[in-house]
Amino acid sequence: MSEPIPLIIANLKANKTWDEVSAWLDKVIPVVETFDGTVVVCPSSPFLVSTLQKLQSLNSKFKLGCQDISKFEQGAYTGEVAASQLVGICQYVIVGHSERRQYFGEDTIAFQKAINAKKSNIEPIYCVQSEQDQIPDNIRIVAYEPTFAIGTGNPDTPQNAQSIAERLKTKGEYTVIYGGSVSADNVKSYLLKEVLDGVLIGATNSLDPQKFIEILNSAKYQ
Ligand code: PGA
Repeated sequence: MSEPIPLIIANLKANKTWDEVSAWLDKVIPVVETFDGTVVVCPSSPFLVSTLQKLQSLNSKFKLGCQDISKFEQGAYTGEVAASQLVGICQYVIVGHSERRQYFGEDTIAFQKAINAKKSNIEPIYCVQSEQDQIPDNIRIVAYEPTFAIGTGNPDTPQNAQSIAERLKTKGEYTVIYGGSVSADNVKSYLLKEVLDGVLIGATNSLDPQKFIEILNSAKYQ
């Protein structure tokens, strides 16, 4: 079942202590409650349960996602978090982010991670760097994230991102989002034509709660 769009993901990456995440949530949650779409926060794994508890205690519509999962099922894999361990905690998981591919050599295991997530009913947000990238079966959400745009202040053009989204949608019934240097100033131009279904906001503009709130306030289709 697909979520209301636009779909906005905040990927906090390896940033913030729990106190900082908590303060960030305090500021962002009230804006999410009035947002006409779906907002997902992806904090670092140690803070997932505390974030969940906070969201539940406020009966918030903010959704929770993990930044990564193991290619393995549960077992003797020190340091790993298996998809099945996230059941009841997260609804989403980012899979195949270019930083995982670049720094952790994860090009070939993203497929297995997506399969594991699906088995546990956690929705993979499957990242591709171009429309040529292979996408596993049964993926519903695809994030187009060209590496040149991530964390650089040099976003892809809305026109190019939209035409890639259009072509991806000929290959499957995907919700397609764009990630890479999205800001409050440019977010609307990505969503305007209703071809892209949302955006993924990384460290550049999600860490400062005010900047992220401005993105939410600008992220409307009309
Ligand atoms: P950015 O990151 O918003 O900092 O460019 C995007 C991403 O990691 O997907």
